Parts: sequence; C-alpha cells; structure tokens
Amino acid sequence: MTDTPLHTALTALRDDRAKAPTNMREAFKSDPQRFCRFSLTEGDLLLDWSKCAVALSTMGLLEKLALAAKLPERREAMFSGQKINVTEGRAVLHMALRNSADAKVMVDGHDAMGGVRTVHEAMARFSDAVRSGAVVGATGRKFTDIVNIGIGGSDLGPAMATLALAPYHDGPRAHFVSNVDGAHIHDTLKPLDPQTTLFIIASKTFTTIETMTNAETARKWIETALGADAVARHFAAVSTALDKVASFGIVPERVFGFWDWVGGRYSVWSAIGLPVMLAIGPQCFSEFLAGAHEMDRHFATAPLLENLPVVMGLIGYYHRVICNYPARAVIPYDQRLARLPAYLQQLDMESNGKQVTLDGIRVTTPTGPLVWGEPGTNGQHAFFQLLHQGTDVIPVEFLAAAEGHEPELRHHHNLLVANCLAQSEALMKGRTLEEARRQMLTKGMAVAEVDRLAPHRVFPGNRPSITLLYRKLDPHMLGRLIALYEHRVFVEGVLFGINSFDQWGVELGKELATGLLPVVEGTEDAARSDASTAGLVRHIHKLRAG
Ligand code: F6P
Repeated sequence: MTDTPLHTALTALRDDRAKAPTNMREAFKSDPQRFCRFSLTEGDLLLDWSKCAVALSTMGLLEKLALAAKLPERREAMFSGQKINVTEGRAVLHMALRNSADAKVMVDGHDAMGGVRTVHEAMARFSDAVRSGAVVGATGRKFTDIVNIGIGGSDLGPAMATLALAPYHDGPRAHFVSNVDGAHIHDTLKPLDPQTTLFIIASKTFTTIETMTNAETARKWIETALGADAVARHFAAVSTALDKVASFGIVPERVFGFWDWVGGRYSVWSAIGLPVMLAIGPQCFSEFLAGAHEMDRHFATAPLLENLPVVMGLIGYYHRVICNYPARAVIPYDQRLARLPAYLQQLDMESNGKQVTLDGIRVTTPTGPLVWGEPGTNGQHAFFQLLHQGTDVIPVEFLAAAEGHEPELRHHHNLLVANCLAQSEALMKGRTLEEARRQMLTKGMAVAEVDRLAPHRVFPGNRPSITLLYRKLDPHMLGRLIALYEHRVFVEGVLFGINSFDQWGVELGKELATGLLPVVEGTEDAARSDASTAGLVRHIHKLRAG
C-alpha cells in the first residue's frame, strides 16, 4: 500500500500542510487575489473556498490525489452505466432521470431513456389531472391535500424540494409522513378531509416497515370514512416492486415505477418526485431536472480544478482526512432550505459512512464526516458559540441567495445576507487577545475588568468555511445545487476508495427490530436479548401496567 500513487499523493498533502500551515488572515493580507484564486463561478452560482486554509500548492496536490484515485475514470465508469455499486451489482445512473439531451443511457445493453420518458410523461399526465380536478376523490371532490408516505430517500428528497420551492406551489398542499411513530400520521391526518386527500405510497422496495405500517393506517382511514371501494381513487404508489404494490390494492394506472439503478437517496428526480410535481406542476419540475442536468454536464466535462463538485469534494476530503475534522455544518441562509441538512445527512452519511474499501479491506483514512446543520440566522442563536469558540474545528458550508422571493421584504434579505457574510468572516478572522482588550479599553472598561474578561472574548479564527452563493432559489437552481451535492459525495467516495452506493449499515437494526417486536408486544420473552435490552423491555411493561 505504501508505494501506490495514491499513498504518495496523500503523503505529499500531509507534508504540505505540516510545512506551511496557512494563516488565513495573513493569506488574505498578503494576496489580494486570494478570492479570485479560490472561487469559481458557473453561471449564476458561485463557490468560494478562499476562507479555507489552503494554498495554491494544496490545490495542485489535491488534483494529483484525484488523478491518483482515478477520479476521471471512476466518473466515466459511473456515467457509462458500469456496475460501480459492486456490492449490489448495480449501475448508478440517477443522471439519466434528468437527461434532457438526446444521448442514450445504456444499462445492461438497453437504452434506459425510453422508460424514463414514459414514467415522467405518466407523472405529468397524472399531476395535470389531479391539479385541474379531472381526477377527483370518491365523492367527486377535487384533491386539496397530498400525503406522501415514505421514509429515507422516499421522503427526504421530495420533502426538502417541496419546501424549497414553496413560492412555486400552485397545486394541492403536500404533507409528508415518514416516522412509524403513530403521532406522525395522526397529527398529519387530523386537520385533513378524507374526501379531498390523496395518498402517495413511496417505497423503492415496498417492504419498508415504517412505510407499510403508515400505508395500512392510511388505508383504514380512507376505508372508515369513504368505504373500501374508495381506496383505488385515493391512493397512488411509487416503487420498483410493482407486484407488491398491486397486492396492496393500488390500481396499475396509479403506479409509477423506477429502477434498481436509482439509489433511494438519489431518487428525487424519479417518480419519487411526484409530490413535488403535484405541488409545483410539470413545467417547474422539468426546470428542476434541467438544472440538475446542467450540473451533470459541468461535472462530466469541466477540468478538475474548475469543476464545482470536484473542488467541493477535494476540500471536503482535505478537511476530513488531512486536517482530521470530524464533522461539517451545512447552514443555509435560506429558510426554505430548512430540510437541506437532513436531506444531506442521508445523501452524505448513508453514502460515505463506510469502513471498508471497494475490495472489502479496512480503510486506512477516515471516511465521511458527520453532517449536520440548521438554517441561519437561527443557528447563530443556538450552536454558533461552539463553531466560534469550541475546541473542535468544524468547517461550515454557507448557502445564500442574492435575491429573495419577497421584494417587499428586501430589508429582511439584506440582513440575512449580511449575517451570512459576517459569520464566515468572523470564523476566518477571529479576534486576538490584544484586539479583545483594545475593544474593551476603548469602551472605557477598567483594566482589571478587561484582564478578567478578555480571554473569554478571544476567537481563535482561522476556522474554515465555504460559501455557495446563487441568484435565487428557483427550481433550476435547486436542481443544480442538489446535483452538485450528489456529485461531491461521489468525489469524496472515490477519494476514500469506498462504495458510496450501498447501505448495509442500516440492516442490523432493522433485523433486530423485527425480532424485538413480539418481545415488546409481550408475546415472546426477552431471553435471547442482552441484559440491558431485556431490562428495558421489562421496564416498559412495568410502566404500561401502571
Ligand atoms: O434506510 C435504508 C433505506 O433503504 C434507504 O436507503 C432508503 O432511502 C429508505 O430505506 C427507504 O427505502 P424504500 O424506498 O425501499 O422504502
């Protein structure tokens, strides 16, 4: 392992960092071109990573690392439909779902594009019919509310995108039920009228216990209110398991399929996006797809260091592996991206939270970081204290739009943007002890008080952040941003040497939950469980017995 090109590139990067730790304050002072050197624009989307402690030499070494990891070859393998998801024997082709070019996308010797177009057209026909009132509920009333029942990739993508595109909604209201906790479906259905509610059961496998349990409850809700015959009119499904959907009782005209080469967390572009299309209409949904396609073309063709997903991936890798930062915070200064951090948690952590290489050998470097976040400015009044003065360095990713959708509230937007810029500046610059002292003395504070308080007012600074700046969060831009993050996760996965497209780590808990259900129900005893689990079950039963 020690004489591979990858190992040599990694060693060079580590040496570079050890020899020349970049002080960003100094770097900005000494190089007026720093922003130009470490930022990229692609249309009206800008990526600024100048507030990361990298030098030109670092970028050169990162590029070498990408070449040593065969990033261009791996990218080509993905786009050409090779089965790069080696543990499941599947191609990875979510890009085909937004491929508006005439080009064929070959899977197992067949062009996948015919099927993609057929499903998108069927979705558009169904959406138009629901939106116009041509398709109505069992009592002849127009659907006012859609409830999507799904979890993970069958929930987070459409939920995130529906909220993000709220200004474009002109269809029925969309609601999302994911948790098996009965509280979720109960509280969602409480204000709704069964006569005007349409359910979409979204599950790639149509076996996921949470989704199937919620779907049964929804079916009972409709049957109780409107009779068993109403089920056909009030349900649609999105799945790759068409036989299982049929046995649930959903009529074939209401079933929208997709394929095993679409990973759950990469599926918002497929029929899984149906609730988004119902909310914003087929035209806006096409713009969402077109934005993603534009990012695909950019990722496939731009030189490595002028390539947004590649640069974001390289910086992400640098922070995780070379700097050993355990986490990254994603802070959209865009309230409608409130679900983006949760969406990215699945996209990133389910993809790159792995411990073995493609060959099943234990990795020798850290892999995917912990991803978390909340919209700004709210986060500033919650956890930013730790980002600025805590003992761990956590790189931050800021997202902000130059323009909001509410021109009458421009003052709000200016405040929002000013806060976003201020946070990245504060993280980078920090405040020295001397500066803290000077500020307090200028305000007329007594010297003894200054001595006591100054250490508390020091900000270490030199804390990295990147900023993604865009004109406006419209469907096209959202498509670009999500595709950018998808490809960034791919880039990091290639550099880590892992398979980003399976998720075996979710299986064990599912298996144990199945075995524990009768124990919790009290029909089996906990003899096979460990003492802690058995003790917890006993205590639950005791609490229930009052
Ligand atoms: O949590 C594991 C997982 O398989 C995710 O990868 C997936 O998005 C989610 O469950 C839902 O799966 P399905 O769409 O098959 O119900």
